[in-house]
Amino acid sequence: MSDPYPENLSTSPGPIGIFDSGYGGLTILESIRRRLPTFDYLYLGDNARAPYGSRSFELVYEFTRQAVEELFRRGCHLVILACNTASAKALRSIQQNILPELDSSRRVLGVIRPTVERLGELSTTHRIGILATQGTVASHSYSLEVDKLYGGGMTVTEQAAPLWVPIIENGEAESPGADYFIAKYMNRLLEADPGIDTIILGCTHYPILMPKILAHAPHNIRVVPQGDIVAESLADYLVRHPEIAGKCTQGGHIRFLTTENPEKFDSLASIFISSPVHAEKINL
Ligand code: DGL
Repeated sequence: MSDPYPENLSTSPGPIGIFDSGYGGLTILESIRRRLPTFDYLYLGDNARAPYGSRSFELVYEFTRQAVEELFRRGCHLVILACNTASAKALRSIQQNILPELDSSRRVLGVIRPTVERLGELSTTHRIGILATQGTVASHSYSLEVDKLYGGGMTVTEQAAPLWVPIIENGEAESPGADYFIAKYMNRLLEADPGIDTIILGCTHYPILMPKILAHAPHNIRVVPQGDIVAESLADYLVRHPEIAGKCTQGGHIRFLTTENPEKFDSLASIFISSPVHAEKINL
């Protein structure tokens, strides 16, 4: 066996791992922590290599695999890919190929499936718009999941918003320049299907642009971020899987890891999460 790593994994309970390419997963962490405040969390943002949205399938898979392995090594038994791009491009392969090799008792969950499960109750017209990264849109993960769950009963229109993540990662979410690109992608989506009544923000970064997105959205359209949906789904999962819940420590603590400059992470992260952030730098 070439990799001695599986033997080093601790069997002791550990925090729930939350992974994103950068800051976006903080929007999911915030909701999860509100819903499940007693658990411990270990957040990892791969800021040095963000954005993932325009990267190839192979790279997103490789980066995500490294991050998941790092979180396992740091004691997590359950990891949430709080990133649609990673969920679209890496989740299935990690679940099918990596977990059986490393440790089949650990779990990795994504954000796309729980979101799609809620669409039936969110939309009246059953015409859904998805705003997401280029990678998520190109994977058609949302359309495929919707077809699996609802057959032909729901229409999904997907629109990539490739500049939104760089705008956020560079601290420009509130700048007047952001408005142009908000309008651009929203208009394209609504022109492609004027019957849409529900827009899913299919990238965990996008809620950071919520005030501007709402300012551009027609009043009859519901704009849905994923945080509360994912948090509710996780709470339900932990009830249904006490063997996994029992491996997650409960002290109410959060730690933050970033692959880039921790001071920069602390200052931008504090815009999106209410608790103080003191990130540690790691290399993947
Ligand atoms: N937050 C991520 C997502 O949900 C990824 C954004 C990016 O790195 O491009 O897709």
